Amino acid sequence: MVLSVARPHPLPSGLRDRTFDNFRVTPLNKEAYKACESFARNIASVKNGSGLLLFGRSGTGKTHLACAIANRLKDKYTVSFACFPILLERMRTGNVSLDEYLSADLLILDDIGSERESAWTMERLFVLVDGRLINEKPTVFTTNYEVDDLDKRVGMRAAARIINNNFHVLFQGVDWRYNPQSKRF
Ligand SMILES: Nc1ncnc2c1ncn2[C@@H]1O[C@H](COP(=O)(O)OP(=O)(O)OP(=O)(O)O)[C@@H](O)[C@H]1O
Ligand SMILES: [Mg+2]
Repeated sequence: MVLSVARPHPLPSGLRDRTFDNFRVTPLNKEAYKACESFARNIASVKNGSGLLLFGRSGTGKTHLACAIANRLKDKYTVSFACFPILLERMRTGNVSLDEYLSADLLILDDIGSERESAWTMERLFVLVDGRLINEKPTVFTTNYEVDDLDKRVGMRAAARIINNNFHVLFQGVDWRYNPQSKRF
């Protein structure tokens, strides 16, 4: 007899409804949508831990599409999600094992760069970024910062790896949080 144990949902409850289907595609976010959807569709052929760097202003849909990728893949792959500032806070106050984050087939690392930077926070990010590359596992990063400013926020060593090993996807357009049409379908 084979017992199958359902995996827990990788996303926090408030982000589980973010999907490709309820993302409104506009001329300004069409390329970002296509890049994320294509990454999810082609995950089996991803090489060398090469993932995505989703960047752009607040409210433009970065976390939404990162979660859409997680939702698309979660039944076939191990997917892990961490909002980086929250993960850092948990690390500060307790002993957090990084195993799950280092070994998942896909990691979503949301909101890098918005943490208050210090040598310690930079080193924590470096451990995650470098560990995933060594394991050849892709990561989807989101950030509000321009690619050129990333090294100042997250440190040179993590930034160099993130910039050089991921496909850069610019998010543009309105802040959907303030858009009257912003509600997902
Ligand atoms: N194209 C879209 N269609 C429908 N809803 C959207 C779209 N883009 C964003 N939203 C919704 O708008 C809200 C903000 O989007 P999201 O959290 O993805 O922004 P973000 O780019 O991650 O912002 P931040 O940089 O502040 O984290 C969410 O509720 C999201 O589901
Ligand atoms: Mg976000």
